[in-house]
Parts: sequence; structure tokens; C-alpha cells
Amino acid sequence: MLPELERFSSSLETDFELYPYDVAGSVAHARGLKAAGLLSASQLRAIERGLRRVKRELDAGEFNFQDADEDIHTAVERRLTEITPAGAALHAGRSRNDQVALDLRLYSREAAVEAVSSLVTLIEALAKKAADHADWLMPGYTHLQRAQPITVGHHLLAHAEPLLRDLVRFVHAFESANSVPLGSGALAGTTLPIDRRVAAKELGMADLSPNSVDAVSDRDFALELAFACVSVATHLSRLGEDIVIWASSEFGFVQLADEVSSGSSLMPQKKNPDIAELLRARAGRALGSFVTLATVLKGLPLAYDRDLQEDKPALFSAVANALESLEAAALLVDHLAFDQKRLEAAAGDPALLATDAAEALALSGVPFRRAHERVGRQVRNGEFAAPGDARASLAKRDQPGAPNVRRVGARARAVSREAASWRRWSERLPPPLPL
Ligand code: ARG
Repeated sequence: MLPELERFSSSLETDFELYPYDVAGSVAHARGLKAAGLLSASQLRAIERGLRRVKRELDAGEFNFQDADEDIHTAVERRLTEITPAGAALHAGRSRNDQVALDLRLYSREAAVEAVSSLVTLIEALAKKAADHADWLMPGYTHLQRAQPITVGHHLLAHAEPLLRDLVRFVHAFESANSVPLGSGALAGTTLPIDRRVAAKELGMADLSPNSVDAVSDRDFALELAFACVSVATHLSRLGEDIVIWASSEFGFVQLADEVSSGSSLMPQKKNPDIAELLRARAGRALGSFVTLATVLKGLPLAYDRDLQEDKPALFSAVANALESLEAAALLVDHLAFDQKRLEAAAGDPALLATDAAEALALSGVPFRRAHERVGRQVRNGEFAAPGDARASLAKRDQPGAPNVRRVGARARAVSREAASWRRWSERLPPPLPL
């Protein structure tokens, strides 16, 4: 190929990141070849020793890449074969098509576990803040207009709940990635007597892909992972937006500690919510990566096409963006200092209890539509007297899911417990890789 086109088609710059999985997958494949009698014990030993050395060189940044290394798979095998002639036997029954499909699955498993672990940290931070503010009154908003009283704890948990759902999305993405395509070869399996279960066991993967053509074409595990990243980034953008609003002079609901805000180079009085703003903006990157990946996949004929090489920049960027945003969001939440006076004053607006007044009338038998009209008139004419106060209103809101103080406290504890159980999940997985 022309050197210009070799440069155009090289993926090394991106798939370099896959090297730990390429080495592990190669060990698993070599063990499968040995079990099938296609490698001798001494060849396997030489290959494993050689791969360990390749990995050391890559870890240490001492690996000498060559122009002919078009991707990480080629580079690893080329170097292995320089180290030991046994390396030349490794590619039996394997194609880069099932190899890259495997490597990306191993990467996705690990990325999903990391995302779960980062989500746990953020969810625990939100749940702790929520528990500490379970009874701090604030106005709840619809259309960014004051609506009804809630508590800070309830509002913070309303950010934690979607993140818990995102966490489960990452767990599903983990499961989707957790099967072995190895043995599918280029697309039609292999004539060699390889037992695919050997590699599955070596890599701690739950299943064998059920169709060799699908196995080398399938990237929906990557699409799922990228979507989980979009979902989390979208939720963080909404958290960011709430914090921007709360930190404004107009609202003044939170103070941003110096550790999580920045000053202006010009205006000495400024404290800017940059981190919250960046969380808001980063959702764009996530969505861009997802659309890129979905567009690469759309309309591709089965089985492998080189287009699939373009899955990695998009997926890696979606994952990195999610992990960075999650870390920033957890630090930001940790440092939120709520202003109880400002919140109480805003929540003390009697109009927030207009709905309570209409509901009290409904309870005494007035049809709700009529009660709504009557209270609406009173508010408009300045004749409205709030029935009780916000705190009493919350005490009466005692359905599951309502902002009742006791229920908010209980939910904060339940969210913490759920997060802690996912922390344990994330500590057990992914299974250790050979080498
Ligand atoms: N670099 C390629 C990718 O990432 C590896 C697979 C190449 N396979 C092939 N038949 N050209 O998709």
C-alpha cells in the first residue's frame, strides 16, 4: 500500500489502548491451541514468556513500533515472533477480526466496571448530602417557576436515582460484552479442532458467541456501553445546570467552595461554576461519540468491514468523557455548601401552598376543578392565606416517593446501601486476565 494510505489506514494511535487485552487474549488463544495439540508445551511456554516481555516493553514505553505495524494486533505478534520463533504458530485458527472483537469486549468489560465504580462514588456523595439535608426546605420548580415545597435531600436524590439506573445500564453493557468471539476466525470459524471453552475459561467470560458471522460483526455491546455513557452524561448535564442555577446571585442556594470554582481574570468579585458548566457541556461529546459509532455501524454488510476500525475512537472517547465527568461531579457534590436561610426564605413563599389549599377543599368535598378556580382567584386577588406552612405540608405528603422528611431520610439510606452493594460488585470484576 502507498505510504500515505498506510498512514490513513493505521489504527495504532487509537488501538494502542487495547494492548493489555490483546496480550491476554493471545495467551488465552495460545492455551486453547495447546489444549488442541496444536502447540507443544515448550512452544506455549515460549509464547507466554514472549508475550510477558512484549507487555513489559509496552508498559514501560520501551516498545519499538515499526512502520509496518498497522495496528496493535500486528505489532504485538510481530514483536513476539522476533522474541521467539514459536510466535509464528500463534495465529492458527484466529483472525484479526475475532481478535479485535475479543479485545474490544475485554476493554468494554473493564470500562463498564470502572464506570460502575465511579458512579458508586458519585451516588454515595449525593446520598450523603441528601441525608444531611433531608429536612432542609426548598422550593421545587416546574418550568423553573416556584411550584411546591420539597427538601434539598429530595432534590439531590432526584439526581441520584437516574444515576443508579445508569449504573445498571453499565452492568448490562458489561454482560453484553462478556462472551468470547474467539474461534470465529475471519467469519466462518476454523477447521482446527480448537475447544472455544478453553479461551472462555481463561478470560472468565460467561458465554461463547453463538454465530461466527455475528461474532466478528457485532458491536452492539459497544453501542450499549456508549449509550450508557450518553445517559450518564445527560444526567450530569442536568445536575450541572441545577448547580449553575443554585450558585447564581439570583438564587444563592449554594456556595461554591474555592476548590470547585474559579475566579474571573477581570472581575475580582466573581466565583464561577465552571465545573458545573463543563458537566453541562460534556454531554455534547458523549452524544457525538454515540452518533459516530451508530453511524459507523448503520448499513454495514455482514461480516467484518474495515469501517469497524472506526468504532474505537468513538467508544474510547465516550468512556473517557464519562469517567472524567463522573469524577468531577463527585468532587463538586462533595463541596456543595447549601445556604439554609436563602432556601427557607424561598420555600416560605405562601403561594407554594396553593395546591395544598385546593386539595384541602377537595378533601372537604369540593370538586377539584372548582377548588382550583377558587384558590386561583384568591391568589390573583391577593386574598390567599396559606393553610399551615411548608413543613406541615411535607409531613402530610407521606406516599412512597414523596418529599416527606422521614421518607427522604430512609431513601437516602437505601440508595447508599444499594450503591455499596454495587461497589462490592465492581471490586470482584472483571475477572483477572492471564498475564
Ligand atoms: N485494525 C483493525 C480494526 O480495528 C483490525 C482488524 C483488521 N482486519 C482486517 N481484516 N483488516 O478493526
